[in-house]
Amino acid sequence: MADLTNVLQTEHPILPQFTQRRSPRAYTAQPVAAEALQRLFTAAGSAASCFGEQPWRFIVGSKATSPEAFEKILGALAPFNQTWVKEAPVLALAVAKTTFSHDGNPNAWARHDVGQATANLAVQAVELGLQIHQMAGFSPDAARAAFAIPADFELVSIFTIGYPGPADALPDPLKERETAPRTRKPLGEIMFEGGWPSVQGERYDQAKV
Ligand SMILES: Cc1cc2nc3c(=O)[nH]c(=O)nc-3n(C[C@H](O)[C@H](O)[C@H](O)COP(=O)(O)O)c2cc1C
Repeated sequence: MADLTNVLQTEHPILPQFTQRRSPRAYTAQPVAAEALQRLFTAAGSAASCFGEQPWRFIVGSKATSPEAFEKILGALAPFNQTWVKEAPVLALAVAKTTFSHDGNPNAWARHDVGQATANLAVQAVELGLQIHQMAGFSPDAARAAFAIPADFELVSIFTIGYPGPADALPDPLKERETAPRTRKPLGEIMFEGGWPSVQGERYDQAKV
């Protein structure tokens, strides 16, 4: 079932999977089936990548099927995130291989490409009635130690995967944030046709987009 909570209102029409994607903190206890997880990570792996390196790796911890991994990922999160993340059914740790396999040189685009893969996964999640919530609030050192991740891999993010639940289940400040309107910068502040804006604060409201 589509999650129609806090759908993003945009200046121009885009795919509903983009406007319906959001980062919930409230989840139902419904487990995420293996097939759904396989589809999510297949979507991640379909992303473009520099030199076709596919630098993304994901460690998955599911309360239902891999509870020890779930607890390890949870344990690496900042306390604020742990308070709500513990209710999610699945956690994933996104990791980037920092060198190219074909020549061993540093891959400066590794984190970029892991981000693209995760964004794909987030959109596929919407299609399956799921949502994810990405987090930077975690200890990379703790996560690396918990899973013995080799030195040439960087830890990029941790994210929840689950079916969104009612905001009422959250404590007060989080409840409000869950339902606060989602907004974005106007297009004129992020898209500059023809060059970098020469006047500070200049808006390209008249640009053809
Ligand atoms: C890389 C990244 C790191 C984030 N870190 C956290 C975090 O540690 N804790 C948290 O509650 N939300 C975190 N967020 C969620 C953002 O706050 C959220 O995506 C943003 O407010 C936009 O909301 P939306 O995803 O619902 O559109 C993070 C998102 C991204 C992409």
